[in-house]
Amino acid sequence: MKRIKIFDTTLRDGEQSPGVNLITEEKLAIAKQLARLKVDVIEAGFPIASPGDFAAVKAIAEVVRDVEIAGLARSNQKDIDRAWEALKGAENPRLHVFIATSPIHMKYKLKMTEDEVLERAVFAVKHARQYTSNIEFSPEDGSRSKSEFLYRLFKEVIKAGATVLNIPDTVGYATPGEFGNLIKGIKENVSNINQAEISVHCHNDLGLAVANSLAALENGAEQVEVAVNGIGERAGNTALEEIVMALATRKDYYNLAVNQDTTQIMRLSRMVANLTGMDIQANKAIVGKNAFAHEAGIHQDGVIKERTTYEIMDAKSIGLNENSLVLGKHSGRHALRDFVEKSGYELSEEKFEDLFREFKKLADKKKKLKPMDIEALINNEIYAIDT
Ligand code: KIV
Ligand code: ZN
Repeated sequence: MKRIKIFDTTLRDGEQSPGVNLITEEKLAIAKQLARLKVDVIEAGFPIASPGDFAAVKAIAEVVRDVEIAGLARSNQKDIDRAWEALKGAENPRLHVFIATSPIHMKYKLKMTEDEVLERAVFAVKHARQYTSNIEFSPEDGSRSKSEFLYRLFKEVIKAGATVLNIPDTVGYATPGEFGNLIKGIKENVSNINQAEISVHCHNDLGLAVANSLAALENGAEQVEVAVNGIGERAGNTALEEIVMALATRKDYYNLAVNQDTTQIMRLSRMVANLTGMDIQANKAIVGKNAFAHEAGIHQDGVIKERTTYEIMDAKSIGLNENSLVLGKHSGRHALRDFVEKSGYELSEEKFEDLFREFKKLADKKKKLKPMDIEALINNEIYAIDT
């Protein structure tokens, strides 16, 4: 069975969600949880964007192991050098370079011709190649670019050393049939395509990001770019939890293997919601609070008799097991520490003691503490590190 790579961009495109700003400790906590879930690649940030982003990518590259760490760069020397500076401590660093290729972006944003864009892309890949052989290239606004130009460009960037070609549906404009055909066309018309992997990166402006990504996988894409809870620019990116669970639940249909530990999904989802401040809608697939809840009597009766009557996934498969967690005013340090660790956070002894004091104060006031109440306290402690 062909294995699909999951490339997570929560810390880069996800952080581009309006109003979201993560500090290094928060990004590290998310990166460690992504590694526990066993994503294949973590895009840790865009190092040239700010000193904070640079520091976070560097910290993640130096600390998080057993996963590729990527950093984004525009197709110019300064961006690529800066990205490499941040990434070089990683076990397996990946430089991700991009340039826009659609007529509308080339004319109005770049003010460059096709030939100039092609030349710049080749230069960027060659420059990146001095540092690493793990190079991803993205033609921004790929789905609105001319296919013939993409074929020509891809052939040249592969020759220059790109090992992953990522096709973005930057503005979420594509439809599944169209996007699947684009991938098929690339496979059929780029003569050296076998020397590179095909990846896709979809946005959700029309609510089609997951459907488009799945259509691409059906047509030969080998990597899919995702963000936790589907966060990202505007309407967001392809949701990690939806893609992973669609491939796992419908293995019979897709016949594709993913390597992720799905039982880490719920913890990751809550952590990202807490740290970004982006709430999850109740009916959000997989991780929404209603996703495994049954309201209608007929459904409840069915589920009691046999869970699979109305559930296509087992809640435990995404790590949803709320009942086992009862933390209240009688709970001690052991239970709280266990919760902190299982939720994927690491706190110094001092921070843990502060947390324990705050936890006891809150437990005195509230009859029943929910995991999210305690996570909110943990996040206050993490945040206090830098402020
Ligand atoms: O949406 C997009 O085109 C991107 C690229 C930088 C991959 O995020
Ligand atoms: Zn994007």
